Amino acid sequence: MTENKQPTYNPGKGAGEPVGVAILGLGTVGSEVLRLMGEHSDAFAHRIGGPLELKGVAVSDLEKPRPGVDRGLLTDDAMSLINRDDVDIVVEVIGGIDYPRRLVLAALNAGKSVVTANKALVAAHADELAEAADAANVDLYFEAAVAAAIPVVGMLRRSLAGDQIQRISGIVNGTTNFILDAMESTGATYEDALAEATRLGYAEADPTADVEGHDAASKAAILASLGFHTRVKFDDVHCEGITKVTAEDIEAARNAGYVLKLLAICERLTDEAGVESVAARVHPTLVPVDHPLASVNESYNAIFVEAEAAGRLMFYGNGAGGAPTASAVLGDIVGAARNKVHGGRAPGENTYANLPIADFGDVTTRYHIDMEVEDRTGVLAELSAIFAAHNISLKTVRQEESGEDARLIVVTHSAREADLAATVEDLKKTSAVKAVDSVIRLI
Ligand code: HSE
Repeated sequence: MTENKQPTYNPGKGAGEPVGVAILGLGTVGSEVLRLMGEHSDAFAHRIGGPLELKGVAVSDLEKPRPGVDRGLLTDDAMSLINRDDVDIVVEVIGGIDYPRRLVLAALNAGKSVVTANKALVAAHADELAEAADAANVDLYFEAAVAAAIPVVGMLRRSLAGDQIQRISGIVNGTTNFILDAMESTGATYEDALAEATRLGYAEADPTADVEGHDAASKAAILASLGFHTRVKFDDVHCEGITKVTAEDIEAARNAGYVLKLLAICERLTDEAGVESVAARVHPTLVPVDHPLASVNESYNAIFVEAEAAGRLMFYGNGAGGAPTASAVLGDIVGAARNKVHGGRAPGENTYANLPIADFGDVTTRYHIDMEVEDRTGVLAELSAIFAAHNISLKTVRQEESGEDARLIVVTHSAREADLAATVEDLKKTSAVKAVDSVIRLI
């Protein structure tokens, strides 16, 4: 068994004592945290056992108009704010990696509990941050980093701590779900749907992180780490975004009884020798219309968990936007503040299982392949020989007329990703195949 360092008990400040809070960042999320903290201060004092006192808000531009914000609270010196003696909890809602990493580490090293909504930071540096939190015996909370208002981090850390999770499949990016849903249901163009998602405040400052799948990959790394008690980092996640998805892909999905979603899939794999590993991936995925994830529309998120004893669970809700993200941040602030008042710590990181990360090529997937082929005798036999040579079994084959050629739509059975990918490469090299129009994995 791996040794688990138990920090000494933190006795707390005592009931009725105020808890000082510093907020770093006053963008979409920070503004909502500030508003809700002010509106519900009495309720929070009861829930915590002492009042929350806002000590300051660090911003990069002191001149920017901020209606309704007490300018006396603003500072552009985040480090001094963090180090104030009367600050107990530091809330990081800036975004980015390097600068917030320095601030969060400084806060933890100074004995402050930290609440962050920053998935990119947690996915890249969770080990270092968790170590600093342990060394200082303080809390590190990041509920808002995954699927905003959906309490999925708490669910994995606490509620499912007694179960063995096999698989977590999730729609964890609101922007891409909004775009794919708009393209499917209203026929909107990709560009118009992205502009609307940005206007509604779902997209990241640079929406590349959303549409290229990076935002979802950060969340997948966090989910896999928590679900499998293994450190999974952003770079361990295979990531494909939605920028290559076409209107034809979406139509083909609909015609075949599927909905196209950007999924984050985290799974525990067991090889023939019984050796376990962990895989995490993000890619456009065909979901059968009767699967619970298929009905998750607009910017909503959902996390579908398969666990040994609990069976199948689904968590659904607002995964993006100022107020839903602030809800998760405030839940963390209340939790961290309670511990500051009454003592103790929240359940922290536990990566005791330390499973190896599987190669993407060894993951088992299924492909939906749509191709233009010559319409002549022997073509099907030629193509099925290519599938057979790679040990790929076919589930369904559908042929449609397409001018002088034929359109062939093949759905495979489950197989090794590397074998499926090699099959597609061989199909592309075959003269009978005029074009491989789309290759999309199935859930
Ligand atoms: N840009 C993210 C999304 C926000 O669209 O889901 C929450 O991480």
